Amino acid sequence: MKFETLAIHAGQQPDPNNGAVMTPIYQTSTYKQDGVGKPRQGYEYSRTKNPTRLALEECLAALEGGSHALAFASGLAATTTVLQMLQSGDHVLAGNDVYGGTYRLFDKVFRPFGLDFNFVDTTDPENVAEALTPQTRLVWLETPTNPLLSVSDLRAVAEAVHAHPAHPLLAVDNTFATPYNQRPLDLGADLVVHSTTKYLGGHSDVVGGAVIVKEPALFEKLAYLQNAAGAVPGPMDCFLVLRGIKTLPVRMERHAQNAIRITDYLVAHPKVASVLYPFHASHPQYGIARNQMKSGGGMVSFVMQAGAAAAVKVAEHTHIFTLAESLGGVESLIEVPAAMTHLSTQGSPMEVDPGLVRLSVGIENIEDLLEDLEGALAQA
Ligand SMILES: Cc1ncc(COP(=O)(O)O)c(C=O)c1O
Repeated sequence: MKFETLAIHAGQQPDPNNGAVMTPIYQTSTYKQDGVGKPRQGYEYSRTKNPTRLALEECLAALEGGSHALAFASGLAATTTVLQMLQSGDHVLAGNDVYGGTYRLFDKVFRPFGLDFNFVDTTDPENVAEALTPQTRLVWLETPTNPLLSVSDLRAVAEAVHAHPAHPLLAVDNTFATPYNQRPLDLGADLVVHSTTKYLGGHSDVVGGAVIVKEPALFEKLAYLQNAAGAVPGPMDCFLVLRGIKTLPVRMERHAQNAIRITDYLVAHPKVASVLYPFHASHPQYGIARNQMKSGGGMVSFVMQAGAAAAVKVAEHTHIFTLAESLGGVESLIEVPAAMTHLSTQGSPMEVDPGLVRLSVGIENIEDLLEDLEGALAQA
């Protein structure tokens, strides 16, 4: 089956009892057992297994081309569970432009437990090859990154990682691209991580996360941790993500159409110093993006000529673009990463240009969006 069909049907079939087309929200914590120690179809307790969550997990596995998926309470809960596979003394090599909350989790939460992290520019696979050590167990990157939209060549990075004698795992946070635009497991990654809060949910009404893997043995380890550490999503949240995924392909097409029009507009604007969009010819990794992604996605970042104050003015003067953190919903959002989503990187080598503005371009009418930006830029 093709992607669009899987997005609607994978992991889901009409209820065998009554024909309900939509997967029910199994709002239950526990299940009646047929006898002592005899749970029906493995359902004994909802932290361990829940039918609504299982439908979402099977759908996600199909979309990313993995053997299995696991759903979590948030993107960071998914990341936390991946890190819980490691032990004190292990080394994690991470991209130097990751979501601020991921950086905070690595640097402030896991470093004190004895994990060692360093952050390199993964847009050059050589940097990855050089920074691997005998203790490296995990390589973690985003592509495109949040908020600079840098693109790493996944095939080349996977080759460098897998050639190393320490056999680290390669994890790719695919939140910005979504499996519609990019499938990291096909390109050599071992794990894909998502904040399903974003494009997969798609309607800014749920917080969730997921991990998708290729190898059943890796799934077993993570499934153990999903249950043992317990960072699971509730059935209602799983239902919302599952429903959102059904329209992912059509939404992603429109996000990208709008984003490219906005990029063209911003590139020509005299108050804008630079624009970052993976499918614009000016993007530093344009060729790689074209190679491994179907479209450039819906995120556009740009730097204001006049710096921080101008960035704040633009962000505070739009009417359709809502000033808010997060991304990937049908509605357009605007933010200043240095003061909002990436505040936790302040004073670190990953500090973000305070003149940078990040747009999550929604699926509204493009003329309305352009007019809104025009008005805000006039104020800056
Ligand atoms: C790329 C990326 N990964 C992970 C996360 C964390 O996800 P969540 O907010 O669902 O915990 C975010 C959140 O913004 C993100 O942008």
